[in-house]
Amino acid sequence: MKILVLNGPNLNLLGSREPAVYGHATLADVEALCAAAAAERGAEVECRQSNHEGVLIDWVQAAGVAHRAGQLAGIVFNPGAYSHTSVALHDAIKGSGVPVIETHISNVHAREAFRHHSYISPAAAGIVVGFGIDGYVLAIDGLLRKARAAP
Ligand code: DQA
Repeated sequence: MKILVLNGPNLNLLGSREPAVYGHATLADVEALCAAAAAERGAEVECRQSNHEGVLIDWVQAAGVAHRAGQLAGIVFNPGAYSHTSVALHDAIKGSGVPVIETHISNVHAREAFRHHSYISPAAAGIVVGFGIDGYVLAIDGLLRKARAAP
């Protein structure tokens, strides 16, 4: 069982970016955590990060093809600030049909008002918010549980 872990804009700066909000772990640490969490659950991850909306859209569309072919359980996706702006990513998730667990390191609802709305949430199969980088582990677990429960 394979999972795609996608990180959007500015998440390449984890570790040095606003550590009071996002912690001290780097993106490499997050990706290692995801790989270990997946392996413990008999799955594997492929991890990617992009600062570019169109690249993320291309990856979501390709994930839809892989999901339909039975090769991918779904995506653990932290779309960063695109969560709050991107109708195009919403449409890509809906259009591709790939299960997405939207994941945010911080509790976006306890922050600025512009972070309270997500275009991704209505298209997501589940949402994990505010658990720090452990949220990625919770999202992997939730996605696998959903995939394994599916008929
Ligand atoms: C974030 C929250 C977003 O509001 C922000 O733009 C990010 C990171 C999080 O993981 O908490 O880039 O997605």
